Amino acid sequence: PEDMLFSYRDILFPASVSSPETLEALKSFEARSDDVILVGYPKSGTNWLEQMVQELADAKYTEEERKEIINAEKKVETFQRLEFGDPGIYERMKKLPSRRIIVTHLTPQLLPPSIFQSKAKILVLVRNPKDTAVSYYHFYNNLPLLPSFASWDEYFPDFMNGKLAWGSYFDHLVEWNKYIDNEKIMTISYEELKEDQVQGMKKIAAFFGFSLCEEDFLRIAKKTSFKAMKEKSSETHGKFGDVLFRKGVVGSWKDLFSKAQNEEMYRKFEDTLGGTKMAAKIKY
Ligand code: PPS
Repeated sequence: PEDMLFSYRDILFPASVSSPETLEALKSFEARSDDVILVGYPKSGTNWLEQMVQELADAKYTEEERKEIINAEKKVETFQRLEFGDPGIYERMKKLPSRRIIVTHLTPQLLPPSIFQSKAKILVLVRNPKDTAVSYYHFYNNLPLLPSFASWDEYFPDFMNGKLAWGSYFDHLVEWNKYIDNEKIMTISYEELKEDQVQGMKKIAAFFGFSLCEEDFLRIAKKTSFKAMKEKSSETHGKFGDVLFRKGVVGSWKDLFSKAQNEEMYRKFEDTLGGTKMAAKIKY
């Protein structure tokens, strides 16, 4: 289990998807001004957002064009996880056609400078830390590529101390909070998308400059509902599908948190993020 994870700049990463060489090579990545960059700590709903944004970006095609694209089994917009793969991935990404949709779990300090220097817009997805912790616990225990925990109580301190892949969720939020006023960055929450997905997607589309009609939004909301995505998950995500599309609800922290753990997390959240604009974005 020790070699399932490696440490890079004091942050853990799964050896199954990345390497120190890849994270070094990432520095050479060159962002394009029309790149769509999606950021989210693990388990904040990145697969959902990715799917939604891809659909929003594709909606500019007519029904006919879309049929042709689907028949050819091609995806119009390409997406790529930024820190996943071998170090050669950045050379290959140069060849991807625009518009690239790029997804990352990283904090700004580990991202290449060109992302901030370019005009590329960045959408940051955040989720209530308690639900994120529960989702990550099940993921750790159900994915053979990550170490397992004997119990929730054994896992909880590691979440609190950031001893998990991609580090501390609190640090992640603190670091992104520093960029929250940047005009090329928008923050959206999992809970807000769950509450009114069409409204959330309208904000996302306006931010990236995608133009869609009312019908498009309704069609995409249906297609990217938890139920619809779970049903297609073995097709889209192979054997990881079942692990990835678990419950898809707000509030599943109540199944596992003790009263003391709830208080501990509340204190930690207040200590690290209390009073920030980021905290205001998170329905706690
Ligand atoms: S990963 O492995 O880090 O990329 O996981 P990520 O995709 O970020 O997060 C997984 C959680 O998102 C939930 N999910 C959804 N919720 C609502 N609607 C849709 N369509 C959807 N798709 C995925 C997924 O179920 C995980 O949360 P939990 O709480 O474990 O169910």
